[in-house]
Amino acid sequence: KQNINKKQKLYQINLDAARYFFKSMSGSNNNGYKYLKDRGLDDKTIKYFGLGFAKNDWNDLNNYLLQKGYEQQDLIDSGLAIQTKNKKNYINRFKNRVMFPIFDQRGKVIAFGGRVLDHSLPKYLNSSETMLFNKRKNLYALNFAKKNIKNDTLIVVEGYMDVISLFQYGIKNVVASLGTALTVEQAKLIKKYVNKVIVAYDNDEAGINATLKAVEIFNEVKLNIKVLNLGKAKDPDEYIRKEGVDKFNILLKNSIPLLQFKIDILKKKYDLNNDQDRLLFTKNVANIIKNIKSPIEVEYYINKISKETNISIDAINSEIYGKYYKKN
Ligand code: CTP
Ligand code: MN
Ligand code: MN
Ligand code: MN
Ligand code: MN
Repeated sequence: KQNINKKQKLYQINLDAARYFFKSMSGSNNNGYKYLKDRGLDDKTIKYFGLGFAKNDWNDLNNYLLQKGYEQQDLIDSGLAIQTKNKKNYINRFKNRVMFPIFDQRGKVIAFGGRVLDHSLPKYLNSSETMLFNKRKNLYALNFAKKNIKNDTLIVVEGYMDVISLFQYGIKNVVASLGTALTVEQAKLIKKYVNKVIVAYDNDEAGINATLKAVEIFNEVKLNIKVLNLGKAKDPDEYIRKEGVDKFNILLKNSIPLLQFKIDILKKKYDLNNDQDRLLFTKNVANIIKNIKSPIEVEYYINKISKETNISIDAINSEIYGKYYKKN
């Protein structure tokens, strides 16, 4: 009973804070507003996602919420206030950042992410874990995406700006894992709504490594997986702003089945003009193909690899199924 009351209070605090941040951004001279405009967001998008600004002030939000009648302890428990180092005062957790409300599946605000306006660190700061917010169990924008599912698919991206940018361009079946480490809980959440995912993480080393981990997790919950190839762009936000939505839709259509993605990564490690490399590459691919269940897919990939490496189909089959493999 007490827990329920406490939770209700924390929901209310988060909502009041979201409204406060939103209001704090009014005026075309506001630094937060200018920042979001510079990043291509229009007023409608800013409002839809409830974006706001935490002023360059250690106390404003905390004082405002105290004035509204909340107890200091509740503000601490909401993750919006923190104690100063000397433990004598309470101050805002967020200061001088653009604010992204984080919603639960029902669309209630449960936390915030705040981004600096310049290159200082940390680039993003999130609310601490609270009674309402468990980062590992939440997907950013699932409340919106679940109403916009297309083709039994959700697109999974890394960050706030990827979701919001794609959304503004009309691609709305998008959620963010907020960071790069996808969890089993998040994968299960996705599986509740769709059978297919397209992983569209960043095109940097961290993003590619995260993709390799994420696909294993999606595999575990039996989601059909494809991977988006962003080419030279850093992330989906950058791509769609540079190239436009039509080209992004083509990318989506051309997204790569998991197996091909793994083979492509291997291919980059080897020089297929070099005999030694070709053998190593083929052996590695054979190891991947071993795990495919569908005979049609197996044949497809064996044919393809045979052509690429000039190693016979029979030899690749033997590599996969052992030396006693006999073609019938
Ligand atoms: N993130 C975080 N803390 C950080 C860095 C990143 O929580 N210090 C999370 C944020 O949710 C962020 C996501 O990881 O949106 C992806 O990080 P990154 O690719 O570095 O940032 P972008 O989303 O591309 O941010 P921006 O475009 O604003 O630079
Ligand atoms: Mn990234
Ligand atoms: Mn980045
Ligand atoms: Mn990014
Ligand atoms: Mn980005």
